[in-house]
Amino acid sequence: MREPGKVAVLLGGDSAEREVSLRSGAAVLHALQAQGINAHGFDPARQSLTELVAERFDRAFIVLHGRGGEDGAMQGALQYLNIPYTGSGVLGCALAMDKVRTKQVWQAAGLPVAPSVVVRRGAMAVDAESLLAELGGKVMVKPAQEGSSIGMSSASTAVQLQAALELAHQYDAEALVESWLSGAEYTVAILGDEALPSIRLQTTHEFYDYDAKYQAVDTQYHCPAGLTPFAEQALQHLALSAFRALDGRGWGRIDVMCDSDGNFRLLEANMVPGMTAKSLVPMAARARGMSFEQLVLRILELSEL
Ligand SMILES: Nc1ncnc2c1ncn2[C@@H]1O[C@H](COP(=O)(O)OP(=O)(O)O)[C@@H](O)[C@H]1O
Ligand SMILES: [Mg+2]
Repeated sequence: MREPGKVAVLLGGDSAEREVSLRSGAAVLHALQAQGINAHGFDPARQSLTELVAERFDRAFIVLHGRGGEDGAMQGALQYLNIPYTGSGVLGCALAMDKVRTKQVWQAAGLPVAPSVVVRRGAMAVDAESLLAELGGKVMVKPAQEGSSIGMSSASTAVQLQAALELAHQYDAEALVESWLSGAEYTVAILGDEALPSIRLQTTHEFYDYDAKYQAVDTQYHCPAGLTPFAEQALQHLALSAFRALDGRGWGRIDVMCDSDGNFRLLEANMVPGMTAKSLVPMAARARGMSFEQLVLRILELSEL
């Protein structure tokens, strides 16, 4: 890599995932500094972006999760300021932040997703019974734009569906009502042109909710995931295709589940996934023989492109 110069590690921000971002950012900052990189933390919720220019930063390592940092807004601002940044660009980030548009792109590209219906806030009374029947009896309801399982709940009765829609609509005008996937859950990290070994997630909760993600001690992560070599290759290939369909660049993570027949169904893309030492991308990198420090440096290198 050309000399990376003075690097701003963008962390914190003011999204619902601020706390996670502060932890990820601290880990990245530490890993960069430990390798002699002139890196400094920068919290856009506390500092104005004009300081990035005034303090002559050469590039930005984005570790902001959720709105404002992972949705293309920051990417657009940095582009405008002519500051190279890690990860995907405006288009990829904006698409990935919206689960409805993400699914539309994947469907158009012929990639497998679970059947779903979009319900807008204030839409004419939804016929909950027939919606449930259409989607197989049990559904997952998600706000179109949120992360960390926030605002999500399952429903298998009309009353539950109304409550789930109300909850999702507190976060977004659009709610995605998706067929329930009862199979195994996987996540695949992408680094450059490569999919890293997949991770299988196992939770004792009904699904991988906020608590299972960040608090629970009984969430299990299997890497290697335990798939046959053929299935592992198919999953990695699928994840890479999904990432590219969204114009993903540099690094990211694709979430996948199996339906009751064992078919892979794409859930969503994360363009700035968690980067604490315990996060999933570092776990996959480790399985590939890459330390946290090496991973962080590689992501920074990829910001060159
Ligand atoms: N259709 C579904 N059926 C069953 N579980 C689901 C479904 N969609 C999501 N989940 C569960 O909810 C979790 C969060 O969903 P996801 O779409 O990845 O959103 P985010 O991680 O952005 O909150 C997943 O990790 C999975 O455990
Ligand atoms: Mg997810």
